[in-house]
Amino acid sequence: MSKQTKPFMDKVVALCRRRGFIFQSSEIYGGINGFWDYGPLGVELKRNIKGAWWEDNVLRREDIVGLDSSIIMNPKVWEASGHVGGFSDPMVTCKSCKRHFRADQLGEGYDAAAPANQCPECKGELTEARQFNLMFKTFVGAMEDSSSVAYLRPETAQGIFANFQNVLDSTRLKPPFGIAQIGKSFRNEVNPRNFTFRSREFEQMEIEFFCHPNDAAAWYQSWRDTRYQWYVNHGLKSERLTLRDHADDELAHYAKGCADVEYEFPFGVSELEGIANRADYDLKQHQEHSGKALQYFDDQTRERYLPYVIEPSGGVDRAMLAFLCEAYSEDEVPDDKGTGQARVVMRFHPRLAPFKVAVFPLIKKAGMPEAARAIHEKCIKAGIASFYDEKGAIGRRYRRQDEAGTPFCVTIDGQSIEDQTVTIRDRDSLQQERIAMDGICDFVRDKIEITN
Ligand code: GAP
Repeated sequence: MSKQTKPFMDKVVALCRRRGFIFQSSEIYGGINGFWDYGPLGVELKRNIKGAWWEDNVLRREDIVGLDSSIIMNPKVWEASGHVGGFSDPMVTCKSCKRHFRADQLGEGYDAAAPANQCPECKGELTEARQFNLMFKTFVGAMEDSSSVAYLRPETAQGIFANFQNVLDSTRLKPPFGIAQIGKSFRNEVNPRNFTFRSREFEQMEIEFFCHPNDAAAWYQSWRDTRYQWYVNHGLKSERLTLRDHADDELAHYAKGCADVEYEFPFGVSELEGIANRADYDLKQHQEHSGKALQYFDDQTRERYLPYVIEPSGGVDRAMLAFLCEAYSEDEVPDDKGTGQARVVMRFHPRLAPFKVAVFPLIKKAGMPEAARAIHEKCIKAGIASFYDEKGAIGRRYRRQDEAGTPFCVTIDGQSIEDQTVTIRDRDSLQQERIAMDGICDFVRDKIEITN
């Protein structure tokens, strides 16, 4: 089945629910639009996406450090950043069915200059467009008045800018260097849609990379290519992935360049991550509004300047949705233990798979469960996420792991007890090899590293 269809998306959504990747938030109360919960498999997949991003962008680089800033910040941050004044979408409401829509997403059926427009759902009359600020408001402290208004952050980036000087002062970094952050962001989207793609609560993985203005164009180019390649390296097929440069009229007034990594989701080509050359806009704004100097002084060149910022900004939930869509496949290969049905298999990149290995005793006696548990414990101790399962027919256990995307299944059988060997089954090729019990960790680690 083609991946670019609604039935395909329906299958992905059904699998996510059935196997515990993603649930609707507060489902037992009818749910709440734009909010999602990550189940037992989903939380592992999400952790692995964030872990891979952190390892590649922070741990493996000497020029980037991490940060975990607070979600609620001084509201002046959002005045300086422009979010209080300008972080809004044009919203229209249907006078009959009372549904709200983003005017800029109504397509050709909507004409802002026309005296009246029709509701795409009930054909009722739409109101004129009005600007709707996307930031969630709350109050800090006991009083609920204008002096205690605060906002849930709509992006993690501003926490990085607000800490620029703290990081400079507390490390020995000098430009070019980056600060990376992964964390929750909140936007009161007019139309949350396409499963988790546009949510009201989501996670971002952002880097603000500070460099000399003269070097910004080269760093922008390098980040643009690096971030595209990261998605390819983790399994997104290049025929479904594009790096689209924004046209000049799409750029924010301060931006010197912007490109989106876009993925061909079943519901259409949509943005996974944006890479922008934001020049010195953010530091300049915070310098002006806070009254604190944020220029960098280079004591070798004796130059004082506001660094330019290159910002690769991606969404964890969107990346996860793309990896889920890419991984989902049904194959006609008859099951190796014969249930007779085509199998559903999640072909995740091994680095991202929720579990790397599943360990099964063939039957629940003759020392097999004890031996299997020992292997499972050993894998976990070695840092290899392992799942232990002794329930049900072995064919069904394999099928469950295929749906979870586990790259390897280890089975302990009668022969294992005699000669200390096990069978190890490859999720994709369905090949089974017999290997020594004490070589399992090395075997799995080697395969995972090779495909990184
Ligand atoms: N600091 C820049 C910034 O926030 P953005 O394009 O608004 O830029 C960056 O957001 C990324 O955050 C997007 O590419 C997307 O992956 C993710 N994102 C933004 N809004 C989202 C939403 N409502 N739901 C899920 N992810 C979202």
